[in-house]
Parts: sequence; structure tokens; C-alpha cells
Amino acid sequence: MNFDILLGLQWGDEGKGKIVDAISPDYDIIARFQGGPNAGHSLEFNNIKHVLHLIPSGIFHNNKLNIIGNGVVIDPAVFKKEIENLGPSLSELLKRLIISSRANIILPTHRILDAAYELQKGSEKIGSTLKGIGPAYTDKAARNGMRAWEILRPDFMKKYDSHTSYHLAILKNHDFKFDIEEYEAGWFEGIEILRKFRIINTEYLINDLIIQGKKLLAEGAQGTMLDVDFGSYPYVTSSNTISSGACTGLGVSPKKVGEIFGIFKAYCTRVGSGPFPTELNDQTGNRLRETGNEFGSTTGRPRRCGWLDIPSLKYSIMINGVTKLFMTKADVLSGFKTLKICTSYKIGGKECHEIPISPDSVVEPVYTELPGWEESIGEIREYDSLPGALKRYIEFIETLTGTPVTLISVGPDRKETITR
Ligand code: GDP
Ligand code: IMO
Ligand code: MG
Repeated sequence: MNFDILLGLQWGDEGKGKIVDAISPDYDIIARFQGGPNAGHSLEFNNIKHVLHLIPSGIFHNNKLNIIGNGVVIDPAVFKKEIENLGPSLSELLKRLIISSRANIILPTHRILDAAYELQKGSEKIGSTLKGIGPAYTDKAARNGMRAWEILRPDFMKKYDSHTSYHLAILKNHDFKFDIEEYEAGWFEGIEILRKFRIINTEYLINDLIIQGKKLLAEGAQGTMLDVDFGSYPYVTSSNTISSGACTGLGVSPKKVGEIFGIFKAYCTRVGSGPFPTELNDQTGNRLRETGNEFGSTTGRPRRCGWLDIPSLKYSIMINGVTKLFMTKADVLSGFKTLKICTSYKIGGKECHEIPISPDSVVEPVYTELPGWEESIGEIREYDSLPGALKRYIEFIETLTGTPVTLISVGPDRKETITR
């Protein structure tokens, strides 16, 4: 099979960007299939860190095709900034990157609506990145959206005005102050940059390339626990982050799917509101945050940190059909005397292995304690050279999930990767 999918199994920020960049040499095409600039995918090489929001993480490899698929929502203003700060010249990027004509466009008013809705929710706010994701997908589903092909049409401004006045009418019902001009300037400049790129029906191209034997890697954004159907609703994002989302978000049949790589951190983090059974509001949580540099790549917010959660990991493996597990940030756990792994929950005094439906459920994690390791592991490149306690930690996860861990990441650089 020539179509592999890599996606996050937790609440996002598992290290997707780093790993997609690291394994891109094995692929011809790297494609994003959902989400938008709410994503922040970091990768490092030659001592430089890059953070990508819309652009697939294969962009730094000069002989690869990168595609922004139909399932993605694009903010032209963010796109422009990203293109300008990337490094490779515009003429080179025009060769490397293609955009689906069916991708929906985030309008300036979507961002304003996102902020107005969050304010209205008060203490029940989602903790959105405020990039306009929810309102843009709402308009897509309501058949009111603007698609990428429409920015090429002569009646584009008429469409823009019509969408904007519809949104401004909604905003009249909100006690929310905003300055649309502040957003519009960058947005229209972004439209000009977007128009330079090939905006085509990428589903034809992708399927043709797969038939020709080219290899496609679909790069997930967010994580399974933020999926609009299977995540901790309503504290989720507005797209299908799971493996089936790669098929709808690119226009490829599930019959073509090969490997499904599920990526998880050696512990857990979450940014934004919503349930997090293993969250540690103590010194250990602070230590994970400091050592792991757990601050949001998109918003800079401190990430909530906690121990690894097996019931949610198993749930994600099941929903996605994960064939191989990739574990990141193993290095962050060096120096802990003991480590905990949550193997089940206690809900209402009863042991439970399933994710509760209600975000209000009081969930007590049941932990197994494992010995830690002292050594720093960033320099290690062979599985066999890893500390015994880390190997036992990995093997314990494999036993509990029934899925092999075939890649271990021991640092943010693309070289700091061990394949097994
Ligand atoms: P993504 O959204 O899944 O791509 O993940 P982010 O880039 O938002 O967050 C992951 C963070 O961890 C980034 O700062 C990465 O540079 C960093 N990172 C990735 N893998 C590793 C690793 O194995 N060890 C350490 N220490 N940092 C890592
Ligand atoms: P990557 O791809 C972590 C979270 C937000 C919020 C919820 C909804 O970098 O892993 P939205 O902006 O979609 O309305 O926010 O989802 N969230 C993420 N958390 N990583 C992300 O992306 C996220 N994208 C959205 O914090 O709780
Ligand atoms: Mg991220």
C-alpha cells in the first residue's frame, strides 16, 4: 500500500511535525487533511526550530510534493506569514506546495465569531486557539463556506462581501467589540499570495500518483481526543482528526490505506479546557512542563501535564486502527525515580476501562508504578542502547495496548530518532 497516515493519539502536540519531517525521506507526497492554523507543528534540524501551522511538515525536503487537502481550513493571513518565514524562496515553494480547490477559507469574521462565541461561553469556554476554526467548519457544514477555487473567480469580492455581511449580522447580537479592518489587511494580502499557488482538484492528482506507485503520507493535526466525534466533546476541535478523516480530507479510498502510525508522548499533555484524568497539578506536573518545554506552539499557553493514560491510548488505537506506535519525548522522563502509568479508571467506585461520555464524570486514575532511569538519552540512536528501565516502560505499553512501538523520539531534532 502507498498511503500511510500519521496522527496524534492524545490531545495534540504529540510531536507530529518532528516525526513527519524525520520520515519524509520515505515518501513522495506529504499531505495535511484536516484542521487549520490551530495546529502548531514544530520540527528542528541544523539547530533551527520551525513551527508550521498550515503547511505540511514535508516542506523542507526539496524533492517532495506537499498538499493542503480539501479537509483543511485555510486562513490566507496565516498562510502568507508562514510562506514568508519558511526559508525556501517563493519560486521553490510554488513547486513544492499545492492546494486543494475544495479547501475552505477562514474569513476575518470567522476569527471574530470564534472570539465572540468563546466569550459568551464564559467559564465553559473550549479554550479555542481563536483561529476561526469552529466558525469556518460550521459554515462548511452549513453550506455557507467559501472554497479555495472561489478566490480565483471574478465575483470573489461579491462573495466575500456577502459572507462578511452575514457574519456581521450575527455579531450584532453579541456584546463584542472588534475592528474588522485590523484582520482584513493581512487577509487580503494573503489572498494575493494564495492565488500564486496551484489551486487544483488534488483528489485526482493524489489518486493518479498513488496508482503510479508514489508514496503518500497523510499528516494529522490535533489529536484523537480532540476529534469532533470521538474526543471529549464539547471540548474538542471541529474536524475529524482520526484516520478516516484522512480519506475524506484527501479524497482517497480507505481501501488504499497501508500503515496507520499513532504518535503519543511518553506522558500526556493538553492545552485548553476539558477532561484530563491523569492531570498533575503539582510539582511533578510542573517538572514535566519545564523539562518538556510544554508551552503551546500556536498560542504559547502552558500545557497541562500528566502521566500516560492507557485507557485513552487504547481507545485511540481502536478508533484509528493504529498499526504502529511512535513514542516521543522519552528523554523528558529521564531522572524520575519512579514513573506512573494509568492502566484503568475508577468511576463511582467501580473500575472502568472505557472513556466516559460526559465531560463532568469524576474519573480517578488507577496507576501502576514503574522504575525510572537516570541516564540522559538524547545521544542514543540504537534501541538496544536505551536504559533497561525505559525498554521495560515501552514493553509495558506494548503489552497493554497490543501494538508495537517502532519509533522512539529522544529529542526535538530530526536526528534524535530511534527506529526499531
Ligand atoms: P505537534 O503539534 O504534534 O507537531 O507537536 P508540537 O510541535 O506542537 O509539540 C511538540 C514539542 O515537542 C515541540 O516543541 C517539539 O520540538 C518537541 N519535541 C518533539 N519530539 C520531541 C522529543 O522526542 N523530545 C523532546 N524533548 N522534545 C520533542
Ligand atoms: P496540533 O496539530 C493542541 C485545542 C485547543 C482547544 C480545542 C479547540 O499542534 O497538535 P480550536 O482552535 O480547534 O477551536 O480549539 O482544541 N487544540 C489543540 N491542542 N494541539 C493542537 O494542534 C490543537 N488544535 C486545537 O487548545 O482546547
Ligand atoms: Mg502542536
